[in-house]
Amino acid sequence: MRLILLGPPGAGKGTQAHRLVERHNIVQLSTGDMLRAAVAAETEVGLKAKDIMAAGGLVPDDIVIGIISDRIELQDAANGFILDGFPRTVPQAEALDALLKSKGLHLDAAVELRVNESALLQRVEARVAQMMERGETVRIDDTPEVLSKRLASYRTSTEPLVHYYSEKRKLVTIDGMMTIEEVTAEINRVLAAILAADESAKKSA
Ligand code: AP5
Repeated sequence: MRLILLGPPGAGKGTQAHRLVERHNIVQLSTGDMLRAAVAAETEVGLKAKDIMAAGGLVPDDIVIGIISDRIELQDAANGFILDGFPRTVPQAEALDALLKSKGLHLDAAVELRVNESALLQRVEARVAQMMERGETVRIDDTPEVLSKRLASYRTSTEPLVHYYSEKRKLVTIDGMMTIEEVTAEINRVLAAILAADESAKKSA
């Protein structure tokens, strides 16, 4: 299974990806996590990404496309993957299409999590409070100022992907305002229907 999770900051992409990998025996590929690891390790990519991420902007397409292309090659992604935070721009989506096509693979679905803006702000505030309580390092982009820039980047650069995947008949929109468990159940229900339709198309071919 190959999936994309689309949604603004705080929509629950990471939370749901984490829950779905266990059930479907696939890997979570989070460009945000990969970039944060690169920043922490002060790699060449990390040094280029650091200030952009801290300001709530988007890391250049060529960098993230390179990261994902390399990551998809690894053996653990052979059974399938959930892309969490990638693609985030139309050029990234086009690069992913080309990459999958070159391998004879297809995307099963792009799952959009819809959450209203006040809930997003509350969730990120709650995450910051939880991390502080646990003595964990808070993400430097989880301040109200940077969060509003991340939301603006989402609206300008990433939201057009909703139309992109809708045109390709790959878009599934889920109400992300439900509880975490309800969102997972709804995604699993839709995925089961997609897999069943695939199976029946294969049988009748
Ligand atoms: P990234 O790490 O991808 O961050 P993001 O998209 O801003 O998303 P978050 O991690 O904040 O939220 P999420 O949707 O995963 O929600 P979560 O599950 O954590 O990217 C960070 C930066 O890296 C970007 O700004 C950019 O600079 C760069 N970057 C990354 N990918 C890139 C790309 N492809 N191109 C260019 N640049 C890129 O949930 C949030 C909180 O809400 C949690 O506390 C959770 O417990 C809670 N929660 C979740 N679901 C629910 C629910 N249903 N009800 C109540 N609470 C909930």
